[in-house]
Amino acid sequence: MKIFLDTADFKAIETWKETGLIDGVTTNPTHLSKAKGDPTKLVQAIAKALPKGVISVEVTEKKPDAVYKQAKAIAKLGKNIVIKIPCHADYYGIIAKLIKDGVKLNITLVFSLVQALLMSKLGVQYISPFVGRWDDIDVEGVELLYNIRHMLDEYGYQTQLLAASIRGVRHFHEAIMAGADVITVPVEILEKASRHVLTDQGIEKFDADWKKIGIRKFP
Ligand code: E4P
Repeated sequence: MKIFLDTADFKAIETWKETGLIDGVTTNPTHLSKAKGDPTKLVQAIAKALPKGVISVEVTEKKPDAVYKQAKAIAKLGKNIVIKIPCHADYYGIIAKLIKDGVKLNITLVFSLVQALLMSKLGVQYISPFVGRWDDIDVEGVELLYNIRHMLDEYGYQTQLLAASIRGVRHFHEAIMAGADVITVPVEILEKASRHVLTDQGIEKFDADWKKIGIRKFP
């Protein structure tokens, strides 16, 4: 399973890069709006910081022609950049065109199995179902992950299932269980998921027991 960081926080990306666990980053207009400075420079810096990673960058234009042009321009910012386009019917034509042009795509804001099938049929690299936003309106979001996994395997599509809009460690667990190819995790959730209270307690207990025998040198 690949793990992407769901952020545009450069410092956090640098920190997590050191762990060797991060396979990419998903930015979006919200993340970029929170970061200071020029978004173009930030995107380039992130792409450079993780040269082997997959860096998703979302279009901000609205009209299909403008989205097409912007997608091509963003793709030129780095070889490892994947363009995020919302799963909207107005964009299906340009999505098909961009695929023909060899632009790698991550289709974002996916909320239904049918949307996922349509995009997989077009041959996009990633589809991002938004688990948390379903949960926000009291619908079990993880079910969509299981259904999309089944659909992809049933029809043999190569599109990768990217679990997005992750709200907690439970969602991480469910994404693994559902067989997501990738998960994009907010920094604070990855920090939480990477620790376990029983591991901390276990270390303390071993340490206390070891100190009881008073041996300084070992081995
Ligand atoms: C995914 O690529 C998105 O950036 C992200 O997961 C959005 O999630 P949100 O619902 O927390 O905004």
